[in-house]
Formats: sequence, structure tokens, C-alpha cells
Amino acid sequence: MSERLALVTGGNGGIGTEICKALAGKGLRVVTTCVDPERENIREWQAQLREEGIEVNWVACNVADYEACVEMANHVEQEFGAVDVLVNAAGITRDAFLHKMDPDNWQAVLSVDLNSVFHVTRQFVGPMRDRGYGRIVNISSVNGQSGQFGQTNYSAAKAGIHGFTMALAKESAGKGISVNTVSPGYVRTSMTDAIPEKVREAIISQIPAGRMAEAEEIARVVAFLAEEETGYINGANIPVNGALFCSF
Ligand code: CAA
Repeated sequence: MSERLALVTGGNGGIGTEICKALAGKGLRVVTTCVDPERENIREWQAQLREEGIEVNWVACNVADYEACVEMANHVEQEFGAVDVLVNAAGITRDAFLHKMDPDNWQAVLSVDLNSVFHVTRQFVGPMRDRGYGRIVNISSVNGQSGQFGQTNYSAAKAGIHGFTMALAKESAGKGISVNTVSPGYVRTSMTDAIPEKVREAIISQIPAGRMAEAEEIARVVAFLAEEETGYINGANIPVNGALFCSF
């Protein structure tokens, strides 16, 4: 049997790249989506990974667009085969206090961070049910659990992701499919580099671990949930936040 296939949305982002590497390191074949191959320099990104001995394929798809996801799924299935592992990692921020938030920035974040999870998962969960196997991991955020200044859009989307996870886990557990959420804390990526410095320092001072996470630390948890042997973990949210937010 050929190796299992993983699809990672936003797999060329800060956390996504490490997820692709971790899954490939476990012997999966890996495909990522990207929105705009030229603007995102996806070929250079792929070549860089190849130099590290890691092969990751890509497909262009705006996961905020349902029809684009229908096409992408057909393309992935024809070119690479059935998807066994789906990681919904695509996400953006458009931070602003709500009293200043532009409706476009509400819509953009809800579309990319939450609607995409429906758009993409909808394409692959039926075939996973038919085959009796699947691993779905949705990337949320500590800020979906705790709320954050300037992030009513992002916190709403990320909280919504775990509601989706719990409901889909119940629908899927009897079909050999696990659906889980991973909620990273603050991770050293270009997304957190964009936080104003004064605010970033204040946030780090509140993290009991005393530092931000490295993206590999998130990817390791995702790869664990993607294993065949961990399928009884289902409908769970796994926080990876250096004790920034602890919940029961
Ligand atoms: N904690 C405490 N105080 C905060 C704060 C925070 N996280 N964010 C903003 N404030 C305070 C500011 O320090 C400032 O206080 P003072 O008036 O006393 O100086 C006040 O709120 C107003 O802030 P700004 O002057 O920056 O106002 P603004 O309208 O220009 O911008 C903002 C507001 C958009 C919230 C901006 O401060 C900001 O971008 N904050 C960071 C938001 C954030 O944490 N985003 C996380 C991005 S990373 C991510 O999302 C990944 C993940 O999953 C964890």
C-alpha cells in the first residue's frame, strides 16, 4: 500500500511548514494548499524543503472560496489519491478594536479561519467515511479560548473551530475518523512578529513558560494526532501554550 496522504491548508505558513515537515518525517506524503503560488514564492519554499530532504507538493486554492475547494479536492484526488489526514491550518489576523473594525476585516478572518474549515473538510470527510479511516486536525488558538484585545474576529473564528471539531467528531468517530483541535499559544512566526513590540513584550511577560513557542512544538502535537494509533483521542482540544491559559 502506498504511504498515507496528508493535505495541509496553509502548509507554507510559519506553523504550517513545520506541520508539513513533521508529517513527512512520519512517512506521509504531504500536499499543501497556497493561495497565490507566485506571491507566496511556493516553488522556492518547496525547493528549500527539498534541500532538507523533504518532499511536499502544493496545489493553488483559496480555501475561503467553496467552489475553489471543490475543484482542489478533485485535483488532489486525481493527482495524489485519497486524503487520509487533513490539517486545517490556514489562518490570518486582521486585528483591530471592535469599535474600529472594518466589516471587511471581520469577513476576511471569518472566511479564511473558520469557513475554510467547512469548505475543505466537506470535500474529504465523505470519502474518509467511505474508506473507514481519517485523521482531521484543526488549528485553533489560545485566543479562541481566552479572547484577546483587538481580536473579536479571530477569537470568534478560532472558538468556532472547536465547536466544529466537537460536532464532527461525534458524527465521525464510528467511521474510523478522529477530529481534534490543537490550540497553539503565541508561536514565533511572522504573525506574531506583526504584533506591536510593546504589546508583544507585555504578552511574553504573561506566559509562564517565559517565551513564545517554536512552530515545531505545535507540529509535533499535530503529527501525534495524525497517527493511526492515536485515533481514540477524538473531539479533544489540545492546548500548546506554555501555561498561558489553563482550563479543565
Ligand atoms: N494586552 C494589554 N493591553 C493591550 C493589548 C494586550 N494584548 N493590546 C492592546 N493593548 C492596549 C495598548 O497597550 C494600549 O494601551 P495604552 O493606551 O495604555 O497605551 C491600548 O490597548 C490601545 O492600543 P493601541 O494604541 O495599540 O490601539 P490601536 O487601536 O492602534 O490597536 C490593537 C489596538 C489592534 C489591539 C493593537 O494593540 C494590537 O495589534 N494588539 C495585539 C493584538 C494581539 O495580541 N494579536 C495577536 C496576534 S498573534 C495571533 O493571533 C496568533 C495566535 O493565535 C496567538
